[in-house]
Amino acid sequence: MFKDAGALWLDIVEDVRWYPSPHNSQPIKLRAISETAARVYYDLDLGLPAESFGIPFAHVCAGVFLESLSVVAAARGYRTIEALDHSEMDFDAVDRLHLIGTVRLEPTDADAEARSAAQRRLAAFRSRQTSRRPYDSRIVGDEILSAASSIATEQGFDFRSTVDARMVSSLVRINQKTLFSDLRNDAVYAEIMQWLRFSKDEAAAKADGLSAETMIMPGRVLRFAMRNRSLWSFPVIGGLIRTMYLRTMRGVRQLGWLEGPFAEPSHFLEAGRTFMRVWLFFSERGVYLHPFGTVITNPASHAEFVLEAGIHESANRMAWMLFRFGYSSSPPTAHRRPATSMLLGFLPEGHVPTGATP
Ligand SMILES: Cc1cc2nc3c(=O)[nH]c(=O)nc-3n(C[C@H](O)[C@H](O)[C@H](O)COP(=O)(O)O)c2cc1C
Repeated sequence: MFKDAGALWLDIVEDVRWYPSPHNSQPIKLRAISETAARVYYDLDLGLPAESFGIPFAHVCAGVFLESLSVVAAARGYRTIEALDHSEMDFDAVDRLHLIGTVRLEPTDADAEARSAAQRRLAAFRSRQTSRRPYDSRIVGDEILSAASSIATEQGFDFRSTVDARMVSSLVRINQKTLFSDLRNDAVYAEIMQWLRFSKDEAAAKADGLSAETMIMPGRVLRFAMRNRSLWSFPVIGGLIRTMYLRTMRGVRQLGWLEGPFAEPSHFLEAGRTFMRVWLFFSERGVYLHPFGTVITNPASHAEFVLEAGIHESANRMAWMLFRFGYSSSPPTAHRRPATSMLLGFLPEGHVPTGATP
């Protein structure tokens, strides 16, 4: 079916399925409605409803995806024209596919310079990974920081960072405490257990989720620790787990965060797009990043972070993403499901199947 109607989409999805998503749940689905147009959906069954910011971060993820799609399409000679829905998401909805919008591919008449910039961005997209490895203590220079800041400003957001050793250590500690605190929350614990992959075989077979390998933890230790969360409150075992986790943070000298409008679906989505632009720019410059998203989604941690970093939030403005960044050796690959699992099939434009949203 896709050979005829969706060959271009299949080719695009082969690349774009490598977009990053929280817990590597890969929730975005595409339905081609013509050779050059597709509907973009968020599959609610692959969402993370247990976290307090589950819905905003689902929209963030959609923004991350749309930015990824524009990079992948540009390298094939197309710009993406988006008609976005921006409706509120409901994890209890009967229709499990939440429409993000429709994307059309329009051929560009890019000159040689634009074509090579598009290829450079595709290379950055393909090499981008989350690095949870120790970093090598080198500081990312001002030239890169100010360019990242301009990327965020263009989108109406602020990128800020710190090299203050005391603040870095305190925020890394808040991130570590978040892990302990999240595991005391039954719903969050049950959710993360669904997505953890303890062995390499399991990670490869399911091709999604958070593998012990990418978390730089021995699978057996992670499995034991996660299945016995009550032991984490014992000083010796809790201390061992804490030390092990903090060892992966060695050499972290710099943290960054993004601030800006974060109150409604359109804000969340643009936030995600901005985050991905900064991430891809870092990746182009050989800088790795590790999001501390849970510091945002855990209300107590978020309050501590805002206080520690001296951030002023208001009704609509928030510091909505925190991350460590720097230089490391290349991290293990997080698997992706095959392209066909992202594609819902072809539906000619205007055709509405009975009992389903096109
Ligand atoms: C919006 C967003 C939030 C994320 N939050 C976290 C986080 O709190 N902790 C973490 O270790 N990784 C976080 N990640 C990284 C994902 O787990 C990672 O992208 C995914 O596992 C795929 O791996 P890759 O980035 O190496 O391709 C986040 C990613 C995104 C897009």
